[in-house]
Amino acid sequence: MTQHQRLLIIDFGSQVTQLIARRLRELGVFCEIRPYQSVTDAELRETPPQAVILSGGPDSVTRDGSPRAPQALFQLGVPVLGICYGQQVMMEQLGGRVEVGHHAEYGRAFVSPAPGHALDGIFAGLFQDGREEVWMSHGDRVTALAPGFQVIGTSANAPFAMIADEARRFYAVQFHPEVHHSPNGRILLENFVRLAGFTGDWTMAGYRDEAIRRIREQVGDGKVICGLSGGVDSSVAAVLIHEAIGDQLTCVFVDHGLLRQGEAEEVVTMFRDNYNIPLVHADESELFLGALKGVSDPETKRKTIGRLFIDVFQKHAAEVGGAEFLAQGTLYPDVIESVSFSGGPSVTIKSHHNVGGLPEKMGLKLVEPLRELFKDEVRALGRELGLPERFIGRHPFPGPGLAIRCPGEITREKLEILRRADAVYIDQIRRHGLYDDIWQAFVAILPVRTVGVMGDSRTYDYACALRAVTSVDGMTADYYPFTHEFLGETATRIINEVKGINRVTYDITSKPPGTIEWE
Ligand code: XMP
Repeated sequence: MTQHQRLLIIDFGSQVTQLIARRLRELGVFCEIRPYQSVTDAELRETPPQAVILSGGPDSVTRDGSPRAPQALFQLGVPVLGICYGQQVMMEQLGGRVEVGHHAEYGRAFVSPAPGHALDGIFAGLFQDGREEVWMSHGDRVTALAPGFQVIGTSANAPFAMIADEARRFYAVQFHPEVHHSPNGRILLENFVRLAGFTGDWTMAGYRDEAIRRIREQVGDGKVICGLSGGVDSSVAAVLIHEAIGDQLTCVFVDHGLLRQGEAEEVVTMFRDNYNIPLVHADESELFLGALKGVSDPETKRKTIGRLFIDVFQKHAAEVGGAEFLAQGTLYPDVIESVSFSGGPSVTIKSHHNVGGLPEKMGLKLVEPLRELFKDEVRALGRELGLPERFIGRHPFPGPGLAIRCPGEITREKLEILRRADAVYIDQIRRHGLYDDIWQAFVAILPVRTVGVMGDSRTYDYACALRAVTSVDGMTADYYPFTHEFLGETATRIINEVKGINRVTYDITSKPPGTIEWE
């Protein structure tokens, strides 16, 4: 790892810290995320990184005992970029002032250039249209600049939205340049790494070789079982691990009874026909649906499914004989919202089943080669490994499956209705050639019956919600702007073709504040 030029991201626990890393990887920059408390002054002096980014975070610098950056950082002579909480920490530690804001800003904002400052260096190429659209998420704000800093840009509620001390190459922004919803944030990050002297020597082919080497190192001549779901993640994980250790790998496909229509057959055929990887097909739907009976709390559902998954894997590991390792296609977004990636202080939103449901003592060691990657990076890795495009292009499907698309109690009847509605919806999307434009589309069946009229009869059936989002990485998302014709036609088809549904709604919530799945 040390052969790369290295950028250090000091993590104060923002939900989107890892996005900084992925933006930098897109630029071919190797970076390391470290929780703020683990970075010491001594280490920084001994092995200084080439540049440092201070992440956002949920705390307030005005609170006693709140996180700080190692002070030595500011004497290293390397460029530093502070983002949101990172900006506030810089101001606090360098002699400025931060106050609890009475004008919090969440979501879209516009930054305008402050007069009299040249827009070059890190700011080159910005403000082409006079102002920049950015994504803000802050309560506190800077009220006095540290000595040496100048204002570069302001927004309605952040007078110091962009600031710089050019002499020391210290930069700070109140908004989040790393998220997709700050369209030109990438320019800012790119300018920053270029002025820090990065040449872009990190590639996906390099990542693949490193991942293979790490798998071999971890596994030795041990046996691995891999939980295969047929989705992109577990497929890529399986192929990668197979490439690393060949027949030491056996795949186990657990049908938890929460899969989509025709999915089980598809997965089994696909893997038996396409790959020579031994595959165990475990139909465990009775077990899962039995345990979920009467459960309607989302976290309990996730934890129950996570726990059973592990039990089932352990059972099949025993049958395979002597497997010591369990491989999973866990992705970074599964990790970041459960615990902070590197042990930092971020807040739990959902327990993703691959992570939150894991019992402490599971008897199998985990192999999670995709744990640091985002979805689109996994797709790029899949291409690197030569996987067919139809695998790679599949919409993501969550581990807990239809359970989290069925708010309230899960019953076989509701699952069957949901499967049929979902199949019609996806068929509609494919027929209209929209599948590849959409990150993820699915139906959620709502725990409510509504009154309708069909022919001359009254109906009293379930309502469902259609969900379709665009996203780059699953961390932020927008609803897909279907035409009214498409929505009308789809609603009509679902109500006509799916017995049990008499009302269709379209979910137009973005993420944040919503999440993609309903639970
Ligand atoms: P949310 O609902 O958190 O979802 O906005 C973000 C992305 O993650 C998927 N997802 C999961 N994937 N196990 C998974 O493997 C899970 O427990 C899980 N929960 C959500 C979701 O489908 C979306 O693509």
